[in-house]
Amino acid sequence: SRIALLGIPIEIGASQAGTLMGPAALRTAGIGRILDQLGFRVEDHGDMTAPGIAPAEAPAPSNARFYDEIKAWIRALSDRSFDLARSGAVPIFLGGDHSLSMGSVNGVARHWQQQGRPLFVLWLDAHADYNTPDTTITGNMHGMSAAFLAGEPGLDGLLGGGPRASVGPDRIELFGVRSIDPLEKKLVAERRVAIADMRAIDEFGVGVLIRKVIERVRAQNGVLHVSFDVDFLDPAVAPGVGTTVPGGATYREAHLIMELLHDSGLVRSVDIVELNPFLDERGRTARVAVELIGSLFGLQITDRPTPSNAVF
Ligand code: ARG
Ligand code: MN
Ligand code: MN
Ligand code: MN
Repeated sequence: SRIALLGIPIEIGASQAGTLMGPAALRTAGIGRILDQLGFRVEDHGDMTAPGIAPAEAPAPSNARFYDEIKAWIRALSDRSFDLARSGAVPIFLGGDHSLSMGSVNGVARHWQQQGRPLFVLWLDAHADYNTPDTTITGNMHGMSAAFLAGEPGLDGLLGGGPRASVGPDRIELFGVRSIDPLEKKLVAERRVAIADMRAIDEFGVGVLIRKVIERVRAQNGVLHVSFDVDFLDPAVAPGVGTTVPGGATYREAHLIMELLHDSGLVRSVDIVELNPFLDERGRTARVAVELIGSLFGLQITDRPTPSNAVF
């Protein structure tokens, strides 16, 4: 089967510059090579170029930095993403800051909607990214992408008249959360977004919690998009991020998650976001991200199947 790589060098959704270099670092760390070795046909579509500023159809919300520029990015990306998914490839979107997921996920969700399969989004992240222009403290749009996908008001203008798939708050799984702003927390609770925070992970373990996500997707004949913000990982494992938060996923927890997701056979698209090579230590974070992608696409320690989920 085919995997399509697409770089999205965007950094204006984040507070710090540098994620623009993310796609190059992931390629240098060997993302193409590892997938090729696993037997995939890898097509690298290169990097998207900055589309400029989309016309201001309506005044931009005052608390959303670079709104019109990000609007242009996600409209262009939504189209690319839809086309890649429709081509039958598994797209891997190489970020770039997390605002890009508004476009990548909207594109793949539109495709799966046409196929009659609901798309679920697994949001591996230290943050909920569920702010709106009304709740944000920073105005950074990488903190608003999950809210946009859930259809929260205040961001509806981003796609203009462009096609939009509804993902909805009931199809987003926040996983790994340990930093959430006060109003954002209130909104996540009001919308009853499924959330596995670090407390839940400590108490039940990632194995049990990921299996629950997988069962939920399977029960609705859905497919899964994995939106992997590298700050999901503990800063000791992944220092190359602008928004590190202590107490993140360990190297081993992260690999187990990827292995379970691979075994599920449900993953159809992936974002790797927030990698900031300017802040990295000798490429460590890029390398870890690539190794995790290996596990997500079938790299195993032994060829012996692990005991199935029958236990649960
Ligand atoms: N909640 C904070 C904000 O709204 C942090 C968001 C961090 N998001 C991320 N994609 N790293 O600014
Ligand atoms: Mn090959
Ligand atoms: Mn994020
Ligand atoms: Mn984050």
